[in-house]
Amino acid sequence: MVAKKKKVKVQLVKGMKDILPDEQLYWNIIREKVENFARNYGFSRIDTPIVEFTNLFKRTVGEDTDVVSKEMYSFVSQGGDKLSLRPENTASVVRSYIEHGMLNLPQPVKLFYIGPQFRHDNPQAGRYRQFWQFGFEAIGDDDPVIDAQMIAISYFILKDLGLDIEIQVNSVGDSISRTEYIKVLKKYYQDKKKSLCKDCSLRLNKNTLRLLDCKNKKCQELSEETPQMVDHLSEDSKEHFMAVLEYLDELDIKYSLNPKIVRGLDYYTRTAWEIFECSSKDGKLNALGGGGRYDNLVDMLGGRETPAIGFAIGVERVIMKMQEAKVELDKGKKFDIYIAQLGIEARKKAMHLFEELRLAGFSVTENMSKKGLRDQLEMANKKGAVFTLIMGQKEIADETILIRDMESGVQEIVDYKKIKSEIRKRLDKNITKNLKLKK
Ligand code: HAM
Repeated sequence: MVAKKKKVKVQLVKGMKDILPDEQLYWNIIREKVENFARNYGFSRIDTPIVEFTNLFKRTVGEDTDVVSKEMYSFVSQGGDKLSLRPENTASVVRSYIEHGMLNLPQPVKLFYIGPQFRHDNPQAGRYRQFWQFGFEAIGDDDPVIDAQMIAISYFILKDLGLDIEIQVNSVGDSISRTEYIKVLKKYYQDKKKSLCKDCSLRLNKNTLRLLDCKNKKCQELSEETPQMVDHLSEDSKEHFMAVLEYLDELDIKYSLNPKIVRGLDYYTRTAWEIFECSSKDGKLNALGGGGRYDNLVDMLGGRETPAIGFAIGVERVIMKMQEAKVELDKGKKFDIYIAQLGIEARKKAMHLFEELRLAGFSVTENMSKKGLRDQLEMANKKGAVFTLIMGQKEIADETILIRDMESGVQEIVDYKKIKSEIRKRLDKNITKNLKLKK
């Protein structure tokens, strides 16, 4: 006798998420929106691998950032390479820009992406270990109008998706003004060290700017009185920032200045911003996206000095907010034709007809495994079919087919050989009727 095998339950890995068919409508709408914006603003798609050398992220995102020091999925490959799943996409895009000599193309090189990122963070609402970002990067120009346009893209995409958005913007200065500012900050915190949370007392020397956006209540109180970066900007950085704000005013973008926007990744210079849905702008967790300039990154990775700017937005968070805001979705195209069949012979013929109509360009659907007419008509209704074609034994014998108008319920017998022209005629009539109704 064969021993009965114990069933082992399979389950999702912690922090990961299935994207089920019901949610795909949101994903399609977001993808389409991102692609349309990219086309209008002249961005080309780039897809970089999910796996990169760990060093790439250490050198760019920063060894002392939470993302690299605590949250990377890193491993040694069978060949002994130290690799990581990408925690973000900017470093890879810049690597690719350098490696493929894109600095010889007309600048700025404008690239966009949409893909999964990996961070071994504590999962909670809107925070996953595998999450998707779409992002835009413009490499090779430091005109403030590009900063304003990038902020505008991030703002208008989300507004177009039905969300009420506010941008919070800051300047983290160029490397010289930032070094000066960090000295001032360290001095400010020196006698307050004991009141800082454990993370911040470690960050004080290595990643001082992050003290400004710590979520710990005591640290937040301490950061209320900190000297502000804007008062320590170099003339150049100040001028740049003022020009960016002027363009934002011109575009009527809803923004506020937030001196605590320092971003969690090391590579930022000058303009930095985060994107909030208005109902949750005070809850840090819910930033829908963020970005900034990274004027030193190409240089840091071995390319020539090249200014750049970009942003990324978390897709799952955007969908969560769209669901909370009950954004109405355009359910998309319905079907023109549903094919219903009764009996084996009719089913065989219906299968041919389905392929024939599909190849002729009709939007056609079916449920061949269903047997009863009621069931099939119900499905046709659910799928929003305009007409249902019904075929049974009698129709096969007479070489006819029934066309049922799903709205009126009226059924007509037509010659099977003329099926395509009969459908076209009716669909055209339907379009004219709908146009008249709209007027
Ligand atoms: P980031 O602020 O680290 O920036 O991430 C951008 C967005 O990704 C966040 O605002 C959030 O919506 C989403 N996100 C981050 N972590 C998670 C998570 N664990 N679960 C769900 N969503 C998450 C960057 O990644 C930069 N590369 C952006 C950039 C592009 N800067 C310049 N160019």
